[in-house]
Amino acid sequence: MITLAKTPVLVTPTMDGLGGYEDALKRGWSPDPRRVGDAAYIKAELAALRKDRVGALDRILNHPAPAHNASPTMPVNHTLWHALWISDGEFAGKADLRYVPETGAVPQGVPGHIGYSVVPWKQGRGYATAALRALIDFARSKGLTELQILCNVENLASRTVIERVGGEVDFVGPHPSDWLEQVKLYYRVRV
Ligand SMILES: CC(C)(COP(=O)(O)OP(=O)(O)OC[C@H]1O[C@@H](n2cnc3c(N)ncnc32)[C@H](O)[C@@H]1OP(=O)(O)O)[C@@H](O)C(=O)NCCC(=O)NCCS
Repeated sequence: MITLAKTPVLVTPTMDGLGGYEDALKRGWSPDPRRVGDAAYIKAELAALRKDRVGALDRILNHPAPAHNASPTMPVNHTLWHALWISDGEFAGKADLRYVPETGAVPQGVPGHIGYSVVPWKQGRGYATAALRALIDFARSKGLTELQILCNVENLASRTVIERVGGEVDFVGPHPSDWLEQVKLYYRVRV
């Protein structure tokens, strides 16, 4: 038997696809990159999804405020938030593009224009790189000219992905959406 490489695509989250998302949670995937390995958080996400699937899909599509927000009242409104799933025929992860429509700026309190996460059992196949490239093309089609992408300084895989698409570090420091001790690289990517 010859296994063919599957090309990942970005798809809009749907109720039909929610089963794959649920399975990923069951297998320990965290939809929030800041909470990788946080079993209590993942369990709570799974329980919330099983209790209310319509509400869960709504939260996925209309993203809630950042999880570790130092100021829970920080507004995340006035934002275009394109929440997408990475799919290779199966659920493979998520990738978001978020921006203020009038200015193209990163919405206040949001850690960068783009966020992504690939399920652990499909990592190392180029999926995040492909998703990021697709989101950059998408951003260009929306008139954005520059993107800010944040990544924890110790996240070597994500750094590789961002640098591969031309990301250059602008600033090093914390971000209010995460713990103050968490040092982040602020990358600038020309679109
Ligand atoms: C970061 C992440 C999205 C990468 O996803 P992915 O689909 O595995 O990424 P890709 O396969 O496109 O590329 C990863 C690259 O990093 C490299 N890499 C992986 N671990 C690495 C490490 N510890 N040190 C250096 N490079 C590493 C891989 O070898 C690969 O490069 P290659 O194609 O030249 O071999 C994935 O690890 C993930 O979801 N992590 C948890 C959530 C997260 O951190 N999201 C990003 C927030 S900024």
